[in-house]
Amino acid sequence: MYKIAVIPGDGVGKEVMDAALHILSGLDLDFEYEFAEAGDECAEKTGDPLPDETLEVIRNSDACLFGAAGETAADVIVKLRRELDLFVNLRPVRSLPGVGGLFSGLDFVIVRENTEDLYVGLEEYTGDGAVAKRVITRRACKRICKFAFDYAVDEGFERVAAVHKANVLKKTDGIFREEFYKVARNYPGIKAEDFYVDAMAMYLIKKPREFEVIVTTNMFGDILSDEAAALVGGLGVAPSANIGKKHGIFEPVHGSAPKIAGKNIANPTAMILSTTLMLKHLKKKKEATLIEKALKKTLKKGIKTPDIGGKHTTTQVAQAIRDELIEE
Ligand code: NAI
Ligand code: MG
Repeated sequence: MYKIAVIPGDGVGKEVMDAALHILSGLDLDFEYEFAEAGDECAEKTGDPLPDETLEVIRNSDACLFGAAGETAADVIVKLRRELDLFVNLRPVRSLPGVGGLFSGLDFVIVRENTEDLYVGLEEYTGDGAVAKRVITRRACKRICKFAFDYAVDEGFERVAAVHKANVLKKTDGIFREEFYKVARNYPGIKAEDFYVDAMAMYLIKKPREFEVIVTTNMFGDILSDEAAALVGGLGVAPSANIGKKHGIFEPVHGSAPKIAGKNIANPTAMILSTTLMLKHLKKKKEATLIEKALKKTLKKGIKTPDIGGKHTTTQVAQAIRDELIEE
């Protein structure tokens, strides 16, 4: 029995969460769901976008599904990453049929360090401008690189590429590159290589099929993973996972999309794929694959939301995917 914390949040977060739960209910899973609140509406009601009760629900769960937050997203998700030490941000990049991606046949993943770098918020004004500090520790580099190699082994990938700018950031990215190759020594079956971030930004567009696992520091990972999302169809289909030693939060990359919220037209794909990341994390690969197959069949039939050229509603798409599960 697994306890799953469920936080629909704001706007389309609620709609895509309903869709994802509807699909999960079509599988025989030993899940107990506990709902909790976070985000803008929660802040209006309770004065806090991330109340202690919600944190407790997540702490007491085996995994958490998160929809989206609105304006308070930074307070909610950044705080969760820090409080729960979710040091990995995992962003798979996989082509799906009929979603208008720039490439077909892509299957790689970006493993982004989630706790350090310029995002520690050490900024200060100086006389004439401002300075931001970039924090990189050997401990964090080692654990993110180890995660990337373990993930490669688990998923049957054969190459891991480190991305950095060690020619300019000699100390911080120097440490990252050193730790990467130290970790790589323990995985003789996996090819380890490294690239400068500016070159990688170009390669992702010129030859994205050449990559399998890309591991990088926080800010480079933030930027490259949005670029990579565009290769396979954009925000409506981009899932992510935030993973730590004890906890995992699985969420679509997109936000609350206020302009389309409440219209039943949000694309549930990103949220659904986020649930498959959770299933894999909980070692339920079979169920994850069933959902992926049902999703692909549904897309191939042209049952999809307007953002990817369809004319179906969120609930119609969810129902169609659930029906495919039964036909399996
Ligand atoms: P957004 O991701 O909400 O929307 C960007 C664009 O993508 C919009 O055109 C939207 O309609 C479209 N879109 C997003 N999700 C979609 C879906 N499932 N189906 C179809 N189209 C979809 O980002 P935006 O507009 O920058 O921010 C809106 C709010 O969301 C802000 O309050 C922001 O703070 C919050 N946000 C929350 C995040 C989170 O909870 N992790 C992440 C990003 C933004
Ligand atoms: Mg981003």
